[in-house]
Amino acid sequence: MKTNITTITDIKALKPVIKALKLEGKTIGFVPTMGYLHEGHISLIKRAREENDFVAVSIFVNPTQFGPNEDFEKYPRNFERDSAMCEEAGADLIFHPSPQEIYPQSYMTYVEVNEITEKLCGASRPGHFKGVTTIVNKLFNLVEPDRAYFGQKDAQQVAVIEKMVKDLNMNLQIIPCPIIREGDGLAMSSRNTYLSQSERAAALILSKSLFKAEEEIKSGSRSKAQLMDMIVSNIKSEPLAEIDYIEIVDAKTFRAIDTLEGDILIALAVRFGKTRLIDNLRLEV
Ligand code: PAJ
Repeated sequence: MKTNITTITDIKALKPVIKALKLEGKTIGFVPTMGYLHEGHISLIKRAREENDFVAVSIFVNPTQFGPNEDFEKYPRNFERDSAMCEEAGADLIFHPSPQEIYPQSYMTYVEVNEITEKLCGASRPGHFKGVTTIVNKLFNLVEPDRAYFGQKDAQQVAVIEKMVKDLNMNLQIIPCPIIREGDGLAMSSRNTYLSQSERAAALILSKSLFKAEEEIKSGSRSKAQLMDMIVSNIKSEPLAEIDYIEIVDAKTFRAIDTLEGDILIALAVRFGKTRLIDNLRLEV
């Protein structure tokens, strides 16, 4: 469905648009992104389009969620292409602020979720989730969505946002959406563009290992240690892969589990050269 998309860069210009929508009783679906869109992002926009009167997408590479030695400067950006893709997917508005608009010089407030942010990506990327919860909170205050759409690709991010919304009694619904993959299994990510041809081929080991783990569980395997060994040795068999973490945790609390039962999450973060990729599999055992 094609729309006539509006791009807004200033908070001052966004406010009256949101106010008018609220006065008309329109529901707002919101998809926060850092741009360089792919089919994963588009699936969230399309879902938002189906469930809401108005669809807003934010495109903002958020500096506060990048560590000092991470890829903030070189994170891929292509606003023209993103804008066309948002329009094609049926979005009504793109909010595309500058870093100064979001974090003026006098900025001093941060939102932090404890405990579940200390594990997995939180342990490897100190301060990352504090940046995520801060920007998502600000964007929610600006866009005032009824529903916000997040990908299960970033499983810990969804869990952290859900916890923030619950703990702070925020008045919106978080909608987790499935991981979208390339035809060969690689989870779509804006960072895939960093991969060389050989790294791209090597990165397939992530989804392959997860699918194999799924098969083993489905055929009755219940030993966490055995499953971990299988995944670790699988990934280590790929010379270009350097493991950051491989964990099997409770999908809701992110606490370690001893036995494979209940709602579990197998989560991986692996480097290929300079590129750190994540992938995961959630399943009910
Ligand atoms: P970004 O990495 O651009 O992702 C935006 C949204 O798209 C997130 O909810 C993410 O989980 C989802 N997404 C990415 N790849 C996906 C895939 N292959 N399948 C399904 N969904 C996918 O996540 C962020 O931006 C930022 O942290 C943000 C929430 C915008 C805060 O800055």
